Amino acid sequence: MRRTKPLSPTPNAASSIIAPRTAADDIADRLREEILSGALAGGEIIRQDELAARYGVSRMPARDALRRLEAEALIQIHPTRGAVVAPFDPDAIREIYALRALLEGEALALSCPRLTENDLEQAETALARLEAERDPARIGALNSRFHLSLFAACGNLRLVDLIAREHAAAERYVRRLLTGLDHQDQSQAEHRAMLDACRRGDGDAAVATLRRHLEDGGRRLLAAVLEGDA
Ligand code: NI
Repeated sequence: MRRTKPLSPTPNAASSIIAPRTAADDIADRLREEILSGALAGGEIIRQDELAARYGVSRMPARDALRRLEAEALIQIHPTRGAVVAPFDPDAIREIYALRALLEGEALALSCPRLTENDLEQAETALARLEAERDPARIGALNSRFHLSLFAACGNLRLVDLIAREHAAAERYVRRLLTGLDHQDQSQAEHRAMLDACRRGDGDAAVATLRRHLEDGGRRLLAAVLEGDA
């Protein structure tokens, strides 16, 4: 019997299972969403005391929330300027997309020949929802779900876990790519081609399409960031 996935692609979901939610969790979730959505832009300063006042809490949970987002690379804490929203980082984009191409290519090559009808249906469902979704806050998660659903039969949970971590790190960039850069039609056509290749059992074609999908997505995003359009 196949083991089920023990891990969550979002860093905050795992902690909510083992401990009751705290004020720091709430503040971190709200701030994370503001950064991921672009409501808070890179370089903006976040003052701890203003944050505490805004949420009606003491400075401690505000500081904890900022530390948490620092660990997720969404915030940088400078000794003099305090907390600053991390700018879009060309090196991070390069690294994340190179790693995704490597890991996801391997996972899909392993998974493709072993995908069951049920796995393919799950992928189809995620893809249909992604096609219909217009809310930027949901698009990143559905994109991740679609990709991960194709790796369901790869037989290596640690590999899937590594990929899920890179998806969490890429969330801010993926949202930008799919909502701001007019890339969604091309992206969806590539998703569709990957799923079709998996249905035909053509692992080589599925992997080649996935690699192109990630290389092209990474390249477009990098170009936009380097041109200052991010
Ligand atoms: Ni994708």
